[in-house]
Amino acid sequence: MDATTTTAAAVDLADPHLFADPGYHRLFRHLRENDPVHWNPEAAEPGFWSVTRYEDCQAVQRDDETFSSTGTNVLGQQRWTGDDGSGRMLTHTDGPRHTELRQVVNRSFTPRAVASLESYLRAVVGRALDEALDAGEVDFVETVSLLPVASIAAVLGVPREDWPLLLRLTTAAFGSADQDYQTSPSARASAAHAHAQLLLYCQDLMETRRRDPADDVATRLVEAQDAGVLTEEDAMMFFDLLILGGNETTRHGAVGALLAFTDFPDQWRLLRADRGLLPSAVAEVLRYVSPSKHVLRRATRHVELHGRTIRAGQDVAVWHFSANRDERVFERPDVFDITRGDNPHLGLGSGRHYCLGASLALMELRLFLDELCTRVASAEVVEPPQRLASTVISGFKRLRVRLRSA
Ligand code: HEM
Repeated sequence: MDATTTTAAAVDLADPHLFADPGYHRLFRHLRENDPVHWNPEAAEPGFWSVTRYEDCQAVQRDDETFSSTGTNVLGQQRWTGDDGSGRMLTHTDGPRHTELRQVVNRSFTPRAVASLESYLRAVVGRALDEALDAGEVDFVETVSLLPVASIAAVLGVPREDWPLLLRLTTAAFGSADQDYQTSPSARASAAHAHAQLLLYCQDLMETRRRDPADDVATRLVEAQDAGVLTEEDAMMFFDLLILGGNETTRHGAVGALLAFTDFPDQWRLLRADRGLLPSAVAEVLRYVSPSKHVLRRATRHVELHGRTIRAGQDVAVWHFSANRDERVFERPDVFDITRGDNPHLGLGSGRHYCLGASLALMELRLFLDELCTRVASAEVVEPPQRLASTVISGFKRLRVRLRSA
């Protein structure tokens, strides 16, 4: 038994601290090769399966009759207590109710709807990068933090003066497994507090929109309540979900992109020389960085996979970053290569829960890279990146960089 084999058997994949060090990629390579349907016992919980190969991750996500999202959809505290959103929230429903919920907000997230935000978002990124260049040395996590908040806030209908508040609350709600982001002594209390504030914020905004409708998601949530599709509580949870889903993922995607380009400077030179590579660069960022680490599904029936039996009621973690580094699908998977012709990454998920905000995310990352190319000649990482201890997001607490202007 080599060291990785021993580690794989002993390690708890639900432990967020495992992911504070990029060495976890080695462990998952070992799992893909030797134990593609891996059983993870837990001390206080019934344990869960992990699928790590591309083909299996895709198959589980596409078969929502067998692998349901209704119980829970990420590892963590909510598995212990049940999830308030079960069977009610977009991410926690399957079948016709899921379709009905997506229809409430779909038209705010079409490529055409998000294209109308392009010039405004370009200006937001441009300003943030100019400020970072003026400052010389910055924490890039902060530099890019306003882009996703501005994007999702515009779609939802949140006024600009409230963006900093939203940013603070989302960081506390999502990053709460990392003690640096806790606003209360326990991770659970910290996240619950932030979520409660987000819900109350939404309630106020919907009241405003009831009096004064606009072309935004807040207004659609009010209309859906009037049509009997959502209760007020459903609408508030929807709002909370959209802010969270639209925020952390894109922010850490942008930070991860910068780090990838500093690790692979030849790719940076290529992109600066040819902006035609922007779409494939964005796809490669989503593959290589994989901002969403995993999603969880619950088996509705017994399933045999690679000789293991997943029993009805057992949870299955689908590890996106591992699928995205599967050597069966991607050549030289650990190499960041923006010229990959075929890049069927699972960075935005697959199947009925495929990312609702995909068009917005793709546009944000494209604008970010485009403006970065225009303004920044090179970036130097001045201290080791500090990664977020999270099983959910591949992200960073801090990435201190010095930018040199173009
Ligand atoms: C780089 C940025 C992003 C990444 C990597 C990402 C990734 C993902 C992934 C992997 C899923 C599938 C979840 C599952 O299967 O359970 C998903 C779903 C979702 N995403 Fe994104 N996302 C990003 C940006 C956004 C943005 C900007 C929004 C805007 C609101 C958003 C909203 C959502 C929502 C609401 C869902 C749930 C869809 C459903 O259950 O039908 N995401 N995202």
